[in-house]
Amino acid sequence: MFNPMIAPHVDPPALLKALADPTRLRILGLLELEELSVGELTRALGLSQSRVSNHLRVLRDQGLLIERRTGTSTRVRVVLDREGDFVARLWSPLRDGLRGMVDHDADRARLQTVLAERSGADDFFDRVAGQWDKLGERFASGQARQRSVAGLLQRGLVLADLGCGAGYMARALAPLASTLICVDRSENMLDEARRNLAHVPGNTQVDFRAGDLDALPIEDAELDGAVLGMVLHHLSELDATLREVHRALRPGGTLSILELQPHKESWMHEDLGDQHLGLDATDVIAALRRTGFSDVHLEPVDDHYCPIPQDGGEAAHLPLYLVRACRTP
Ligand SMILES: C[S@@+](CC[C@H](N)C(=O)[O-])C[C@H]1O[C@@H](n2cnc3c(N)ncnc32)[C@H](O)[C@@H]1O
Repeated sequence: MFNPMIAPHVDPPALLKALADPTRLRILGLLELEELSVGELTRALGLSQSRVSNHLRVLRDQGLLIERRTGTSTRVRVVLDREGDFVARLWSPLRDGLRGMVDHDADRARLQTVLAERSGADDFFDRVAGQWDKLGERFASGQARQRSVAGLLQRGLVLADLGCGAGYMARALAPLASTLICVDRSENMLDEARRNLAHVPGNTQVDFRAGDLDALPIEDAELDGAVLGMVLHHLSELDATLREVHRALRPGGTLSILELQPHKESWMHEDLGDQHLGLDATDVIAALRRTGFSDVHLEPVDDHYCPIPQDGGEAAHLPLYLVRACRTP
């Protein structure tokens, strides 16, 4: 028969079973004092998270819990005090019983520690999140971050910057590599690169090797990866260089080519020593396939090359592209 003092959703036998467990009573006792995340509750109880989660499921099934999202976590609280409610009347003597329980006293003591930790951490970070990049992200060299990230690679990488010039690409490669080989036929450019890479983060060994791209000073299969950054438009023909790069890469090694799309800035012949005014990506792709590369693909680049003419004219704004390819594994 319908009993007006029992809410329609309550299943009395299941509810009584849910409450007939000392751990669940401890949980209700804590959650009545404070809204807590599962992690906080676990620490306050001194139990395993899986055990606590199982108990919470039973209590949730009886409609005794409410969850609320706050920042990145979810907190749980109890609904035990609806006036005149069957649950409220059951809970009152159970709460009295908890007061004398040794376990509950210990729970309450641990709860104080958990709450003290929360106000020292969560609330603080909620307040300062908007300024954290200025407050808490200041490191002297960035070396620690680079090494943490590079440490995820299964083994050290041997990478090469081919036609390295003053080391623009090399500076980005160094933090990723265990050994970085910088090749250029201009000794003066290599000196500039040495200066620019004097303080690379991490323990990367940087080798500067004078040599021609047609006869790379690199052993067969020495490289895991290589970059040809803004270099191919300086060459009279591509195949000899690409064959050399293919030889120097290990099977499965990757080549990344950054190039200029064809353009009309003829002053770049004189001012920047360019042989070609950019290169058509289809010619580069065809040359890569001819010289044995596989998995060749073109990627757009959301960047431009912006050189300034020496006569003081306007800076150019030249579109770029990337082509990646692999030495067949
Ligand atoms: C435009 S710079 C690019 C430098 C660098 N990769 C960058 O992204 O800033 C071209 C470099 O390629 C070098 N280079 C051109 N042809 C070469 C060749 N056949 N062998 C070796 N180096 C070459 C030049 O000496 C020059 O330093």
